[in-house]
Amino acid sequence: MKKFYVTTAIDYANGLPHLGHAYEKVLTDVIARSRRMAGEDVYFLTGMDEHGQKVQQTANKEGIEPIEFTNNLAEHFKGLCRDLNISNDDFIRTTEERHKKVVQELLQKLFDAGEIYEAEYTGFYSTRAEQFVLEKDKIDGDWPEEFGDVQEIQERNYYFRQSKYQSWLLEFLKENPDFIYPRYRLKQVLEFLKEPLNDLCISRPIERLSWGIPLPFDEKFVTYVWFDALVNYISAIGYGTDRFEEYWPADYHVIGKDIMLPPHSVYWPIMLHACGIELPRHLLVHGWWTLAGSKMSKSTGKVVNPLEMVDKFGTDAFRYFVMREMTVGQDSDFSEPLFLSRYNGELGNDLGNLLSRLLNMGGRYTEGVIPAATVVEQPEEALHKQWEKSWTNARKAYDEFLFHLALEEIFEFIRSINRYAEVRAPWKLAKSEDPADRALLDTSLANMAEGLRLAASALKPIIPQTCDTICQLVGGKEVERWDEGMDWGSTLAGCNLGEKTILFPRG
Ligand code: MSP
Repeated sequence: MKKFYVTTAIDYANGLPHLGHAYEKVLTDVIARSRRMAGEDVYFLTGMDEHGQKVQQTANKEGIEPIEFTNNLAEHFKGLCRDLNISNDDFIRTTEERHKKVVQELLQKLFDAGEIYEAEYTGFYSTRAEQFVLEKDKIDGDWPEEFGDVQEIQERNYYFRQSKYQSWLLEFLKENPDFIYPRYRLKQVLEFLKEPLNDLCISRPIERLSWGIPLPFDEKFVTYVWFDALVNYISAIGYGTDRFEEYWPADYHVIGKDIMLPPHSVYWPIMLHACGIELPRHLLVHGWWTLAGSKMSKSTGKVVNPLEMVDKFGTDAFRYFVMREMTVGQDSDFSEPLFLSRYNGELGNDLGNLLSRLLNMGGRYTEGVIPAATVVEQPEEALHKQWEKSWTNARKAYDEFLFHLALEEIFEFIRSINRYAEVRAPWKLAKSEDPADRALLDTSLANMAEGLRLAASALKPIIPQTCDTICQLVGGKEVERWDEGMDWGSTLAGCNLGEKTILFPRG
């Protein structure tokens, strides 16, 4: 069976991880985990993009070798994956031999096929953007700030014959309208392709940039960062070996909207096509986290440190918030009050309190054992129906990357368990000697336990640790795959309840 192969963008090694990086990893992790629960054989790749002028300059400023600088940052990014409970199977660094080898192999292949040529060019060069820029990029006669220092330079370089593939790419995109998710982003790419494509400058002279992968056919040049970075998606899975066939094509490249155009929707498809390699199946393009309306970025100093939030509230609270708050594809504004309100309200009150209540009552009324449900009346029927509806909708939402809706549905169900508990009021039934009341008391605790088990199993890709904890505390039955154990039908009778536990202490 072909693997379900999913990747994140690889992060620039030019600063510490921020909320944008953390979000992308969590989003991709949720996709990976939900596909595993759906029974797919998943391979999940993330990593770091370590070459380029900025890295060289920053390392120089700090008086250390670029590799020392990126080794240090790689530990931070790997630490981020650990702290966010990311289930990646591999972490690629573009400074690794296995990667350099494939970049050089592709370059040589394209060079031998006449797809790369040398030419002299005079033009304006932006150091910050690490690219040539054009007069038409000026705004009101000035270079936009994101270009930093722009200088006119004359240079010999190598170019990839990208322009000749323009009509092929257009055709491909028209024939594959679901290549990009969300679909509306395709329009932007088609708009971009209305202008003639230039050939792509894929080299940088070594005297300007030495921190890169040397061109195999001319060691006086290193490879342009995008031509280097994009190749990670195939170098990591052993391009050129049998292993590659099991993984490629990637099912989803998960990326932010700033790097869709042109790198992932123009350069990458054309590079692959020119090399005779199949294209990835989809790009999944997410939006930006903003702070008070503007993009978080290191250069403006506007950043949220994801690890601080994790330290304060825990990994799952962070994962929950970013998945609940952002509609995949759109932007979302981060604010701590919003975080707190979801944390205290949804995680603390709706979910956490339900668990504490159940464990507490189980300890007091049933000696810590989950009783059997013997009564099915209107409140039970309503609860079972709500589960069926919520799970059907949530399952569909998972498949469609509408994770915020999946959470909305599952939390609607969790609130209905709380309402059910209010209606049955086991704490009142416990005062009665009547056997019919005793049966109702048992039934209500059994239904609460089963409801919690199901809710936890449904939430597992998003808050995996919490779900394991809940399942362990409520009967010890964990669901690993969604094709079994997701129907209402308590198998928990006679199983133990754990000690009273506070999942999300008030923040
Ligand atoms: N190195 C390139 C990607 C190469 S992929 C072959 C790069 N690195 S990055 O560190 O700048 O960004 C990594 C990912 O984080 C990108 O997908 C980017 O869109 C995402 N984010 C960076 N800032 C972001 C926000 N503020 N919000 C959400 N995601 C954003 O680009």
